[in-house]
Amino acid sequence: MAKLPQKLERKLEKRRLDDALRELPKSRNLIDFSSNDYLGLSRKDEIAKEGHQLLESSEITKNSSTGSRLLTGNHALYQELEEFLARHHRANATLVFNSGYDANIGFFSCVPQRGDIIFYDELVHASIRDGIQMSNAKSYKFAHNNIEDLSCHIERSRNIDSNTEIYVVTESVFSMDGDTPDLKALANYCNAKGYHLIVDEAHATGIFGNGKDMVCELQLEKKVFARVITFGKALGNHGAAVLGSEKLKSYLINFARSLIYSTALPPHTIACILAAYKYLEKRGADDHTDLQNNIIYFKEQLVELEIQKNFIESHSAIHCLVVPGNKRVKQLSKKLETEGFDVRPILSPTVKVGQERLRFCLHSYNTKEEISRILSLVKNLLDK
Ligand SMILES: Cc1ncc(COP(=O)(O)O)c(C=O)c1O
Repeated sequence: MAKLPQKLERKLEKRRLDDALRELPKSRNLIDFSSNDYLGLSRKDEIAKEGHQLLESSEITKNSSTGSRLLTGNHALYQELEEFLARHHRANATLVFNSGYDANIGFFSCVPQRGDIIFYDELVHASIRDGIQMSNAKSYKFAHNNIEDLSCHIERSRNIDSNTEIYVVTESVFSMDGDTPDLKALANYCNAKGYHLIVDEAHATGIFGNGKDMVCELQLEKKVFARVITFGKALGNHGAAVLGSEKLKSYLINFARSLIYSTALPPHTIACILAAYKYLEKRGADDHTDLQNNIIYFKEQLVELEIQKNFIESHSAIHCLVVPGNKRVKQLSKKLETEGFDVRPILSPTVKVGQERLRFCLHSYNTKEEISRILSLVKNLLDK
């Protein structure tokens, strides 16, 4: 085997020394406080069956999409899904991408132009940052969830002229914090100023607004330039979509390279995304109630055990306990693992040094007993 160049060896070694080396985990049969399957839809037999039926009735017999959507990959189920999504999420148009990562790099690399400026929350997801890096626009970060800081940055910006479009980017539920910006205020601010607001709804898709998203829950559809929804989290599947105007859709079809130059999703995946949405619309109420009850119960337990101050304030399915230091947070995660729980440590450099954390993802299928047990263990570990 050819040797790895020394520069790369050194980078890997540094990761090892920083206790930050990433490795692919083995699959483990632990109690799930870590997956993004918030509503348990990945486990529903009836969704798999319905997906299969949809595939059969569509008479698409291929295992693969066989090409990019602009060539042979654009099967009929895509159109059905995109029409469904537009209705369900109250958008004018939707465009499905292969993943949230692809949607974000596709969007941000081609929409903001040279001379435009992107202002992004300092904690936005890596896929948004990567897309911004690929763009010709200038970009600046603003303090997390802080509209005043955003407005200061924009006012201080020297290179704004009448041709400059301003894009503002945030998430409705932050993936590594679980918290939420004041989206109403942000949308009103952007609207009043003529800025384009983009909201990544990855961790809100299917959960807020009766199985829709946070923008729908707050009735902000008309004030938002684009939303990114994903199907790999609460929908229990894979893929993503950009929601916006017909013209934006047409623009992305023409310029988003992650859409144009990549094989489209297989028909089976699209059928199962549709089936998951149909399930949500018809029978998802109980799963939502179970998830909401677990979020409430988790928060009540934090108060009862007097450990809420160690957690980042959140009303979503993601709750984070900040435990500074890669070594310490990994130790805590390991201890919980030996007790049968899967809670992942989030290490630096994924988060800032000193902000390392245990991320608890709550699900409709977690039991109250599991929640009390894991939080009692956490309390004991923190008291040591
Ligand atoms: C906020 C956010 N956006 C986008 C993505 C990427 O989505 P996907 O996993 O579908 O590529 C993630 C994934 O974790 C995310 O948390």
